[in-house]
Amino acid sequence: MSEWVTAFAPASIGNVAVGFDMLGLALEGAGDRVQARRTDGDGVTIAEVRGLDGEVHPYLSTDPKANTASIAAQALWDAQGGTRGVELKVHKGVPLQSGMGSSAASAVAAVVATNALLDEPLGPAQLLAYGLIGEQFASGGLHADNVAPSLFGGLVLCPQVLLPDVVRVPVPDGVSAVLVHPDLQVNTAHARKALAGGYSMSDWLAQQGLLAGFLVACAEGDVDLIGKTLKDVVIEPQRKASVPCFDAVKGAALKSGALGCSLSGSGPSLFALCSESRARNVASAMEQACRSQGIACESWVSTLSAPGARVEADG
Ligand code: HSE
Repeated sequence: MSEWVTAFAPASIGNVAVGFDMLGLALEGAGDRVQARRTDGDGVTIAEVRGLDGEVHPYLSTDPKANTASIAAQALWDAQGGTRGVELKVHKGVPLQSGMGSSAASAVAAVVATNALLDEPLGPAQLLAYGLIGEQFASGGLHADNVAPSLFGGLVLCPQVLLPDVVRVPVPDGVSAVLVHPDLQVNTAHARKALAGGYSMSDWLAQQGLLAGFLVACAEGDVDLIGKTLKDVVIEPQRKASVPCFDAVKGAALKSGALGCSLSGSGPSLFALCSESRARNVASAMEQACRSQGIACESWVSTLSAPGARVEADG
């Protein structure tokens, strides 16, 4: 058996309000670690899944057919002609069903660690497809808005029509992302199934305009335009009821100077973008609003150019 290789993959903010399923942002400070080593066995197995506390994870399975990490790693291993087996250890740093791209972080970290075991490792751009196979198992849909930012870092435009190509979107200096995770869970697969199937022309036009304006605002560093465009008129109204503190937390974010605030992925986490100098105040206002609704929470403040997944160390 070979030495362990460790890879880290960050959490991420799916949709970023304006781009359902096609825009994602890497989040600094939270992520999953996966260790991988070659074995004499057959195929990808999972030795253990542990949580942040170091204890065996109470909910996640070590069945390789039921974990996004092993599913993604197996797809890579098979496609690249890996021989014999791979053993994984999954260390969850991203809370489950949090809207923080938990399944994507596991899939990406597993793919990056397993890739390092190949005789001829692939480049990051070639790994996206394998991360998506793991993510699809968890969410039931083909969307790269968590896998792509977790893999590449930063703000990534990844509409299905362009995959496997994605576009790294330039980000303005001096703007931070704040994420508040209320201590609730939302199942992404269920949340996706609950979405309406048809939309009005006016909503479609409005959301297209917001997405286009937001992308230009980021590329040009136009902070006022970010404030005008960071809105979701289609998905947020359908999903916010599943997060009882949504209105209070969003209201607190906007009142404390955020440029905009919406659900992160399918929630329950909310994110806001704001000037770097206000980020701590915005985070604290959002946390207080959440707790005032009787819901515990934690928060992160991140740059918009957080690094993507990487191999950390051998040994
Ligand atoms: N785009 C996905 C959704 C992200 O909103 O369903 C899930 O984290």
